[in-house]
Amino acid sequence: MSRICFSRNLKELADLLPEGKQVVVLYDKAVSEWVKKTGLPADLSIGLEGGETLKQWDAVARVVDRFMNAAVDRSWFLVGIGGGTVCDFAGFLASIYMRGISFGFVPTTLIAQVDAALGGKNGIHFGSYKNILGCIVQPAWIFCDPDLLRSLPLREFRCGLAECVKHGAIVSEPYFRFIEEEVAGYDPAELPDATLDRLVRDSQQIKMDIVEKDLYEQGERRALNFGHTFGHAMAAEEPSLSHGQVVSKGMVMASRLAVRKGLLEKAECERLEKVLARCGLETEYPYPENRLLPYILHDKKRQTNYIWLVLLRRIGQYMIVKEPVDSFGL
Ligand SMILES: NC(=O)c1ccc[n+]([C@@H]2O[C@H](COP(=O)([O-])OP(=O)(O)OC[C@H]3O[C@@H](n4cnc5c(N)ncnc54)[C@H](O)[C@@H]3O)[C@@H](O)[C@H]2O)c1
Ligand SMILES: [Zn+2]
Repeated sequence: MSRICFSRNLKELADLLPEGKQVVVLYDKAVSEWVKKTGLPADLSIGLEGGETLKQWDAVARVVDRFMNAAVDRSWFLVGIGGGTVCDFAGFLASIYMRGISFGFVPTTLIAQVDAALGGKNGIHFGSYKNILGCIVQPAWIFCDPDLLRSLPLREFRCGLAECVKHGAIVSEPYFRFIEEEVAGYDPAELPDATLDRLVRDSQQIKMDIVEKDLYEQGERRALNFGHTFGHAMAAEEPSLSHGQVVSKGMVMASRLAVRKGLLEKAECERLEKVLARCGLETEYPYPENRLLPYILHDKKRQTNYIWLVLLRRIGQYMIVKEPVDSFGL
């Protein structure tokens, strides 16, 4: 498993580089000032525009060209610095270039620090098919400086909060309560360092505990998809919606379904809705739910005749139900 180095001391980043290897750095231009401050020794450094358009073949091809021109080979080490899109892109490229070179991540958004940089899933889109080309390869390390989150636009911070709430909702009521009491409803810019640190570190711990038990998503790792089956369908229907917003709405939709199935108390569902709303996230899908059905049936997590759906029993406890596609209704 990857080593996580959580630190505000930028010198520790250079210490993570393997001795004697040449280094290629792929970084999001949005954090170029921070990258300069690190003084990271790079033999090749490539600035990228972060965002979903990066996760496409043509961007991979352009960077491979730069690698070939600089004679990057398997002995090099790659560092990916940026949000979830840069981590996904850099991890994918590192995993396929010359059959794989070692790499480390510096996640710079809340989504990337608590989710995308952890667990080894790397991938890109193919046209409008999201995350359809990918692999599971672990980074050697993840360097996490929570101060990077201080420059994050509010909208991006909120998206990350949706994943933090998800982590609490599925396995940790105390972490969920911490978000309710110390994070939701507060201006992120004013969160004390200790609160920001706990927000990130506990969330990382929850994800890593799950991933370690089920690297290839045969069982428990599926819990991390809570809210995502419906959320991905909403994003497919309306691509302009951000990941955090659709995950938020998707968790609420799944929880209302669990209430209807008699699996979850209504009060627990309302507790989830309330914390998401106080985090500045949307909770309502404004159309009839069965509009999502065609998109759900195209979800890549679907296995021939059924889909796995993550539902809550209570805050801090999930269950996975296997729904046959032909009887699947919302
Ligand atoms: N591999 C996984 O397990 C996994 C898990 C969750 C999400 N993801 C992927 O992550 C992506 C979403 O990640 P994201 O929300 O970080 O998106 P992102 O990389 O597009 O970053 C969001 C925006 O913030 C900017 N930015 C990055 N760091 C910044 C900083 N410190 N200060 C100011 N601006 C900054 C970026 O340039 C971008 O405009 C999606 O493509 C999703 O599929 C992957
Ligand atoms: Zn997600």
